[in-house]
Amino acid sequence: MFKNKRSGLWIVVVALTLAVALAVPMFAGAAISTNDNPVNLVMTNPTEDCKTSMMINWHSPLAQCTISYTTADDTEFANATTVNVDGVAGTLDYFDLKAGKYYKYAYTITGLTEDTQYIYKISNTSGESAVYTFKTAGTNAFRFLSMGDTHADGGSRYTYVTQTTKMLNNVVKKIGAYDLIIFTGDYVQTGATYNNWVQWNDSQLTTSAVMSLTIGNHDTDNRDAGSKRISNKWFVNSLSNPVNGPDGLESVYWFNYNGVLFLCVDTLAPEMSEFTSAQKNLATQMQWMKDVAAAQEGKYQYIVVYQHNPYGLGSSDEMASWSYYSQMYKACDAIGADFVLGGDNHEYSRSNRLYNNQVVDAEGDVGSYYVTNPMVTSGSMNRVVEGSGLIATRYAGAGTGCTIFNVTEESITMQLVNQAGKVIDEVSVPSRRDAVVVGTEVAGPAVSDDATPTPAATATPAPEATPEPGDEATPTSAPSDDNTAGDKGNNDIILPIVICAAVVVVVAVVVVVVLKKK
Ligand SMILES: [Fe+2]
Repeated sequence: MFKNKRSGLWIVVVALTLAVALAVPMFAGAAISTNDNPVNLVMTNPTEDCKTSMMINWHSPLAQCTISYTTADDTEFANATTVNVDGVAGTLDYFDLKAGKYYKYAYTITGLTEDTQYIYKISNTSGESAVYTFKTAGTNAFRFLSMGDTHADGGSRYTYVTQTTKMLNNVVKKIGAYDLIIFTGDYVQTGATYNNWVQWNDSQLTTSAVMSLTIGNHDTDNRDAGSKRISNKWFVNSLSNPVNGPDGLESVYWFNYNGVLFLCVDTLAPEMSEFTSAQKNLATQMQWMKDVAAAQEGKYQYIVVYQHNPYGLGSSDEMASWSYYSQMYKACDAIGADFVLGGDNHEYSRSNRLYNNQVVDAEGDVGSYYVTNPMVTSGSMNRVVEGSGLIATRYAGAGTGCTIFNVTEESITMQLVNQAGKVIDEVSVPSRRDAVVVGTEVAGPAVSDDATPTPAATATPAPEATPEPGDEATPTSAPSDDNTAGDKGNNDIILPIVICAAVVVVVAVVVVVVLKKK
């Protein structure tokens, strides 16, 4: 077929060129560059006492940065406090960024005034961050959000990030401002991949509130190297949470914000390959929950516990075993948790009010609601369970929103809202402790429906048609682990490699066969 070996060689050259031409755009779509920004991973993390201090977390390729902070009314930073901060050379390898190639910063701003809005920015010789804002804790009635499973992957999944920020705009417009976000895990697609964390630099999610994250299974993974449920080390290294959990469990911590005791626990711990048996033992965390609640008694009026695994699955009205509910509910009962939050399977579910694994009076003095956050996507929620058993309601479909908590001196109320900011489900727990929170109402919407939309709100698509509860209840099979959706993100990197390798192998085989025939 070929007149000489040179013809075969030309085929190889052309085929390889084609393979590279095919693969390069796919790699580019995966956006795998990582450490080019002046600062990365900027996030306001809580301290034990958010009234007078706040933890500012960031990374940078540079060894020294400057942080400037001031009250929110000082928009030009004319009276800002400016501090030079030395970074700590990173000692942890990420899949795409090695130790020593970045610096970690954890700067605690102290001496703050309670119940006050602040702004800050970070700069260095390469540039500066966006302006971030947070509100210090106080005792007033307030609002916080809870959401999960954004799965930032540095590439195609950026759509989840943008949909999340659009939803937050709608929440502010329809319901009002929020001071804190409780994130129920799977913040990123692959914890070990740095550019997944970097993706958040471009979002509005971390700029406008105190962020408290619990670890999700994807946050423990090095999927790009084919390993899952390994360690909390990337999660711990990428954030700066309070170090006040049980020994060796830095993904477990607590803080108090406006009279709510937040207990962040780690139900992934029993499954992590690098953990010791002591770290895997949930009894340690359950005892820690009781110890913290006892030590802080009198300083909080409500308790919110959060972890990653889901409570409701499939069409069952029973609790999912994989949440470790059968163990953890005993600790939640003992401390009097008002809400216990999870995520993971991307679909909303809510229990009835439970105590001792039984349904109890919604107006009584005991019991907790177990809530699984939906995922923020453009899908619709269809109710598949309306039960009088342990699970009261569950929605199938991708899920489109978040949960909102209004905290007042009388009660803590949870609302499920869709992406358009419409309330879908609501329950309330009456206060059962001495008052710490002041006020019977949370401040209303920051922007009325009649007001001119902000630029961000203008970009929000028309609200999708979301079925009302009870409409078109379409039973679905029990969702598998979030990996159903989650694993797709790996294709951004793996697919081009596979295609490249396949093309090279096929061409090589053809050339060998042809040359042999000659
Ligand atoms: Fe997930």
